[in-house]
Amino acid sequence: SRVLLLNGPNLNLLGTREPELYGAETLAEIEQRLLDQAKHLGISLECRQSNAEHQLIDWIHEARSTDIDFILINPGAYSHTSVAIRDALSGVAIPFIEIHLSNIHAREEFRHYSYLSDIATGVICGLGAQGYTFALQAAQRQLTS
Ligand code: DQA
Repeated sequence: SRVLLLNGPNLNLLGTREPELYGAETLAEIEQRLLDQAKHLGISLECRQSNAEHQLIDWIHEARSTDIDFILINPGAYSHTSVAIRDALSGVAIPFIEIHLSNIHAREEFRHYSYLSDIATGVICGLGAQGYTFALQAAQRQLTS
């Protein structure tokens, strides 16, 4: 099966960006760990990051024509603002898990709401980079159940 990992705006800064909130690992390190995990699970994983909303939307659309079975997405701040990313995900009807490194519910009020959560298969937040690992594991179980 094929899984797509999407990371949204500012996640390219992981490792240096507010490490007390987001951890010391870089995105490249997280992606490499996930690629190794995917190999073990027999999953083909593609990893992408963009700071641009339209780029994330285009990749979500493309996922349908490239037969992606499952999407893992940390939409960054677009979680709290983007009806367009929500519409793209419902439009392609590919199941997805929403991931946040930090516990968005323990932070500013404006982070408590996500436009994606109610249409997600599941949401993982507050567990740092481990959240990506759990999400890939959950995706694999969903795909083989
Ligand atoms: C985040 C949480 C968002 O509120 C924030 O805008 C991010 C990262 C997280 O992974 O904790 O960019 O999605």
